[in-house]
Amino acid sequence: MDNKQVTKSERGGWGSHFGFLMAAIGSAVGLGNIWGFPYKMGANGGSAFLLVYLVLVVLCGMCVMLGELAIGRKTGLGPVGAYKALCAKHTWLGYIGVLCGFLIVSFYSVLGGIVLRYCVGYIVSMFGGDGWAGQGTGFFGYFLYQGGEMILYFAIFMALNVVIVMGGIKGGIEKFSTIAMPALFVMLLGIIVYILCQPGALEGYKFMFTPDFTYLKDNFFTVVTRAAGQMFFSLSLGMGCMIGYGSYLSKKSNLQKSAVTIVISDTVIALMAGCAVLPAVAAFADQSYGKGPGLLFSTMLTVFDNMGGFLGNFIGFLFFFLVLLAAVTSSISLLEVCTTFVVDKRLSKGKPGNRKIVTTIAAVIAFVIGIPVTLDALGSGNAAIMFPGEILGLEKVPMFFDCWLDLYDGIAEGILMPVGALVMTFLIGWVYKTKMVKDECECEGNKFFAFKFFDICFKVVTPIIMAIVLYGQIADFF
Ligand code: PHE
Repeated sequence: MDNKQVTKSERGGWGSHFGFLMAAIGSAVGLGNIWGFPYKMGANGGSAFLLVYLVLVVLCGMCVMLGELAIGRKTGLGPVGAYKALCAKHTWLGYIGVLCGFLIVSFYSVLGGIVLRYCVGYIVSMFGGDGWAGQGTGFFGYFLYQGGEMILYFAIFMALNVVIVMGGIKGGIEKFSTIAMPALFVMLLGIIVYILCQPGALEGYKFMFTPDFTYLKDNFFTVVTRAAGQMFFSLSLGMGCMIGYGSYLSKKSNLQKSAVTIVISDTVIALMAGCAVLPAVAAFADQSYGKGPGLLFSTMLTVFDNMGGFLGNFIGFLFFFLVLLAAVTSSISLLEVCTTFVVDKRLSKGKPGNRKIVTTIAAVIAFVIGIPVTLDALGSGNAAIMFPGEILGLEKVPMFFDCWLDLYDGIAEGILMPVGALVMTFLIGWVYKTKMVKDECECEGNKFFAFKFFDICFKVVTPIIMAIVLYGQIADFF
C-alpha cells in the first residue's frame, strides 16, 4: 500500500451523499437562520430585505458554495492544505479560514451554552420547578452576569462538540447530522402549524412579509451590506468550512446539485424559522420586540411564558431543543475546520492523524478564546471584565467594540469572511479559471450547467458585490 492510500483512508469520508447533505445543511442552518434572519428581515424592510437577500444568494451564495466544494473535492484537503496545493502563495487564505473557525466557534459555543441552559430551564419548569432562578422572563439579563454558570454551560456545549468531532466524518459528524437535521425539520414544522393556529399570529406574517420599499430606497447600501453579511454567515461561506466538507466527498457526487440543494434548504429553513418566531411574537408578546437581537433569548422567553402552564414550557423546550440541534450541527463544522487543518498536516508528514487529541486541543484553545465572551455581560456594563470599547477608553463605542462577542464576530463575519470569499472567487475567475470548477464537477460524467453564468459571477459579479460589502463593513468597523 502506498503512502497516499494510507493517508486517504485515515482521513475518512462521508458514508453516503445524503449524510453529506445533512451535515452541510446542518452547518448552514444554525443560529444565523433561527435568530439572525427573522429579526434582520423584520428590521430591514421585511420582504424588501428578502428580495435583496434572494438576489445575493443567486449571484454570490451559489457560486461561492460551488467554488468551495469544488476546491475541497479537487484537492481532498481542508482549506489550508487545499490552497497550498493549488498555489503555495495562496496558503494564507486557508489560514484566514482557520482563524475564523477559532473565533466563530468560540463565541458561537457560548451562545450554544445559553441555548442549552434554556433547554434545562424549560425541563425543570415542565416538572414544576423554578427553571429561571426566580427571575421569570427577566432571566436573560440576570444570567448574563452569572459568569460561572455561563462558563459551565459553554464548557458542556463545547464538550458535546468534541465528542462528535472526535468520532470523525462518518462516525461523528454525519451520524449526528443525519438524525438531528430531519428531527429539527419536523419540530420546526410542528411549531409553525401550532403557532399559525393561535389568534393574532397573522400579524407576524404581515410584519415579516410587508415590503417596505421606502426603507430599501433610503438605506439601500445598508440593506445590501446587512443581507450579504447575513448570507455569508448563514451559508457558512468564506472561511473554508465547505472546502473541508467538500474534501470528504466522493468523485461521483454531483457538486452543482449539492450546492443548489444546500443553498435552497438554508434559505427555506431561514424563512420557516421566521414563520415560527415572528408570528409567535405577534401572538404572545409585543411584536415590536421582533426587530432586535433580544429576539431569541428575551422575547421568546416572554412568548412561552405568556402561552402559560405546561404547554408553554413544553413548546418552549421543543423550540430551544431545535435551536440547540441547529447550533451543534453548525459548531461541529467550525471545530472541524480547526481539526482538519492539523490532521491534514500530520498525515502529509506521514504521521498518524491523531484526530481525537487534535480535536480536544482545538476545543481547549477555542474555549480559552471564548472566556471573555462569557464574562463581559455582552457589554451591559458593571460586568466581571471590561468590554473592548471600555478597555480602549472609547467615548463613543462603535458596534464592533461594544462587547467581546461583537468584536470576534466583527473580525470574522465582518471582515475575514468577505475577504475570503472575495479573494476566492477572484482567484477562481481569473487565476485557476472557472474551467477548473467545471472540470471538477464533470470528472465522473456529471453535467455542468450554466457555465457562462457561473463564469461571469466568479469573474465579475461576486467580487464586485463582495468589495462593496467589505467597504461597508470596514466603514462600520471604524
Ligand atoms: N451557518 C451557521 C449559522 O447560520 C454559522 C456558521 C458560520 C457555521 C460559518 C459554519 C461556518 O448559524
